[in-house]
Amino acid sequence: MVLNSFIRYTADSLCIDEVSIDAIIRETGTPVYIYSLKRARENYRRLRSAFARLGARVHFSLKSNGSLAILRALEEAGAGFDCVSGGEITLALEAGARGKDIVFAGVGKTRAEINYAVSKGIGWFNAENALELRYINDAAANAGVEAVRVALRLNPQVAAKTHPHMATGHGAAKFGLTADVIRMVLARQAEYPRINFAGIHLHIGSQLGDNAASLSAVDKLLDLIRPWPQIRTINLGGGLPVAYRSDETIPSLDDFVEALAPRLDGYEVLLEPGRAIVADAGVLVAEVLYVKRQAGQIFYIVDASMAEMIRPALYDAHHEIVPLNKTEGDLVNAQVAGPVCESADVLARDRRLPLLRAGDKVALLTAGAYGMAMASNYNARPRPAEVVVSESGDRWRVSRRREAVEDLCRLEL
Ligand code: LLP
Repeated sequence: MVLNSFIRYTADSLCIDEVSIDAIIRETGTPVYIYSLKRARENYRRLRSAFARLGARVHFSLKSNGSLAILRALEEAGAGFDCVSGGEITLALEAGARGKDIVFAGVGKTRAEINYAVSKGIGWFNAENALELRYINDAAANAGVEAVRVALRLNPQVAAKTHPHMATGHGAAKFGLTADVIRMVLARQAEYPRINFAGIHLHIGSQLGDNAASLSAVDKLLDLIRPWPQIRTINLGGGLPVAYRSDETIPSLDDFVEALAPRLDGYEVLLEPGRAIVADAGVLVAEVLYVKRQAGQIFYIVDASMAEMIRPALYDAHHEIVPLNKTEGDLVNAQVAGPVCESADVLARDRRLPLLRAGDKVALLTAGAYGMAMASNYNARPRPAEVVVSESGDRWRVSRRREAVEDLCRLEL
């Protein structure tokens, strides 16, 4: 099996960069998320150079992974941030970002969040509601801010090729504004004297399975803004896919940029990728607690669950699972399931895996995006620790401690 390039077996023991995962978990225990800072930065740089001919500025979509260690590494590498809440803005600032390097998106920003963002000198609001514009305008007036830059978010009414939960640009989606509403807003710009309507925003979905829907959305967007030459900035959102299966091919990034280049000539371009930067930089490591054989099935019950990694339960998502210690024996069909009391708590179904025993460890790959970020305390499970492997590739540290049971009671009054 081809693993991610930074994760491979050395002397039959799974390593992340130069560090043996076994050595890490002997100290941290399981379940634990482990990230390669080197890989995250490499991915950031790869995207930046792929889009270099568009002069695109990359804002890491913080919702995919809010680990401060990762945010700091990306900030140092030059990334801006795409935030969808006051909390995410605080994390981005904490990581060293300046307000102007942050774009603030979201379908339901509160007034408090809008005021906060304006006070921090946010670079762009991606706005999607006329009342929201009123709030932004008022916040700017109250704070004595001359002009706030807004990119209206277009819902281009295209069907993205992805899981229905991740498609955001179709008619039935709550996201964005339709072209006619945007035209109406732009015709009434004078009502928002503190807003500079200098941009337009688009995000049709995540883990996009082809470039066609994105290009058709861009064409609709260009048609829409033609009468408004003051709109010089186009934010293309995120959605760039990654390969979750070892044999999966994803749409070519170079072809995408090639097709975009003539269309976007003369515009400033922003991007908001999350997954493409962190997904394959992270693994979730778990221990096999029990092996259950019954009704013709083999279940590996592990100590990670849908509480730590919800993607398989929520999206039927596929994550490769490999043992920490390479074995040459026969493969069997097995389910890898967690301890949570839900039938959906299965991390892998009908998977070819080696024969494992209680105490063996496994790694769930491509877990760096929307893994820990979507973890919960369901079934009163303390959230796992996070470990980062340094950019040099040979050192590691716990960047966030494992939650303790006491943490679960801490907020009760
Ligand atoms: N920009 C906007 C406006 C977004 O809504 C999103 C993701 C992104 C950027 C970043 O998208 P990315 O480059 O990571 O695809 N929880 C799901 C994914 C939900 C994505 C939500 N929005 C998952 O686990 O696959």
